[in-house]
This record gives sequence, C-alpha cells and structure tokens, in this order.
Amino acid sequence: MNQAQHGAPSQTTADAVTVTGVDKTFDTRSGQVHALQGINLTVKAGEFVSLIGPSGCGKSTLMRIIADLDQPTAGSVAVFGKSAGQARLDQDYGIAFQQAGLLPWRTVAANVGLPLELHGVGSAARAARVAELLSMVGLTEFADRYPDQLSGGMQQRVAIARSLAESPSLLLMDEPFGALDEMTRERMQTELVRICAETQAAVVFVTHSIPEAVYLSDRVVVMSARPGRIQEIVPMRLDGERTESLREDTRYFEMITAVREALHGGNPGGGIATGGLATGAVAASAPVRGAETR
Ligand SMILES: Nc1ncnc2c1ncn2[C@@H]1O[C@H](COP(=O)(O)OP(=O)(O)O)[C@@H](O)[C@H]1O
Ligand SMILES: [Mg+2]
Repeated sequence: MNQAQHGAPSQTTADAVTVTGVDKTFDTRSGQVHALQGINLTVKAGEFVSLIGPSGCGKSTLMRIIADLDQPTAGSVAVFGKSAGQARLDQDYGIAFQQAGLLPWRTVAANVGLPLELHGVGSAARAARVAELLSMVGLTEFADRYPDQLSGGMQQRVAIARSLAESPSLLLMDEPFGALDEMTRERMQTELVRICAETQAAVVFVTHSIPEAVYLSDRVVVMSARPGRIQEIVPMRLDGERTESLREDTRYFEMITAVREALHGGNPGGGIATGGLATGAVAASAPVRGAETR
C-alpha cells in the first residue's frame, strides 16, 4: 500500500521545522559573538510558535538560519524534512521580516504579486489573488502606489500580503507587526489567525509583545540573552481558541503571566532560582560564556 506513496513529497507528514543542536558564532572585528547555543526546536505542521526574549538574544539569527539566509556554525535545520536550502529553492515558506524589503520601482500590487509572477501564475489569476490579499491587509486603495508613498506600517502590510501570496505551509515572521499602530496590529493578528486556520500553515513568529505571543501561539519559546538559548517553552493552554473575547479571558491573562515569569524569572540552569537576575540584561553585558559556572 505504500508503493503509491513511494517518492511522494513528505510535506504532509514531516514537521515544518526541525532545529537540531544549532550553534552560531559571528566573527567580528572586536572578536567572536556567540549568538546561539544548543538550540533544539521542532515546529509541527500547522503549529504556531513564537520566539520571545531580550534584544540581541538571537531571535533574528535563528529565523535567518531557518530561512537559509545564514548558516549555523554547528547543528542543522530541516524544513518539511528537507534541508533549509532545498526548502528555500522549493519556496516552501513565506517570509515577512522587520524591514519590509519591498522593491521601490514596483507598485504595491506588483510587489505583492511578485512571488506569483516568479512562479508563472497567469496575469488574470494573479490580479485576482493580489486584489484579495490587498483587501485583507486594507490596502486596496493603494494598489498603484509605490512603496515610498506609503508609511512604514503600510509598507509592512504590503510585505505581509506578499508573504501570504502563495499560501505557504510555513510562514517565518520576524516582528512583522512591530511598526503597526495598536488597532491595525490587532486586526492583523486576527487576520493571521484566520489565515492560519484556513491554510493550516505553520508559523514561526518573533515578537517583543507578550500578549501578542500568547494570543497567537500554540507554544511560546522564551529565549535568554547571550549566548541565546532556549530557556523555557511555554505551551498555551487556550484550547486553540483565538476569538476577540479571548483577549478579555482569565486564561489569557494567566498565560501572559506564565510567559512573563518565564522571561523575567528565568533560571537557565534549571537549578536553584535565586531571583537575582531580573532580565537577561546583566548576562548580555558580559562578553563571556561563563555566566552559568558561578
Ligand atoms: N551579521 C552579524 N555579524 C556580527 N554579529 C551579529 C550579526 N548578526 C547578529 N549579530 C549579533 O548576534 C546577536 C544576536 O542578534 P539578533 O539575532 O539580531 O538578536 P535579536 O533578533 O534577538 O535581537 C547580537 O549580539 C548581534 O549583535
Ligand atoms: Mg531581531
């Protein structure tokens, strides 16, 4: 019975992302920067996982490694059971990073439609999909404008629409909503939840906002500062519910507290919690690896 499946892509069964023993060291003029240490993480197909942690703890570096935009110093990454490089060639994922990264000489519509164009989608189908995406991010009126005619938040929404163009089975989003005002941000969160439910996409999502991470995620990965490590993975016990009323639900606030405690009261060694380090700020200022030996 498995002969029918022989040679078929493993996409439906494989985990979306598997990060195994990833270490990353940057060589800089002022010496080595140990950005990531011993990262192990699996994101299941359809799962929403957020990364949260102090600035400089390696969240963007980890995203870039998953996206094959940077290479790990040690360890490996698989995306749907393939190498990160192969997954990039196959365009298995959509990316929306901090900088919108739009092509300034293309209109908004042409930026959003670019992935479809590259994949040979015909112009009528493309126009229909672009219209749908622009309506979703509230930019229908701006289809013919150029990026430099838009605010930063609007440019970011164009980038998000573009990342969704091909309904990818994995979305890599690095602080995609950081530049948006609070109301637009909540609307985009609601849209993202809807899109994920519809497309069954897995998402790896970087944010500085604890409520945002809680609202969106199945699990929240709390990272500690330099070298960036996974300090704790907090499962969100919200039964997959992502309604507007969840934002006022007791369970939601309980989860916010749980993530905040993991972030602030973290104890990387897992031993005695002294409560001495309120945040990763102290560790971040020390260019050493020996913090845990004390
Ligand atoms: N290309 C690079 N060259 C040298 N150091 C880098 C480079 N990219 C990131 N870093 C360093 O690696 C650490 C993690 O950075 P980053 O992944 O951007 O953190 P985060 O996204 O969590 O704020 C920081 O100390 C940063 O300065
Ligand atoms: Mg970053």
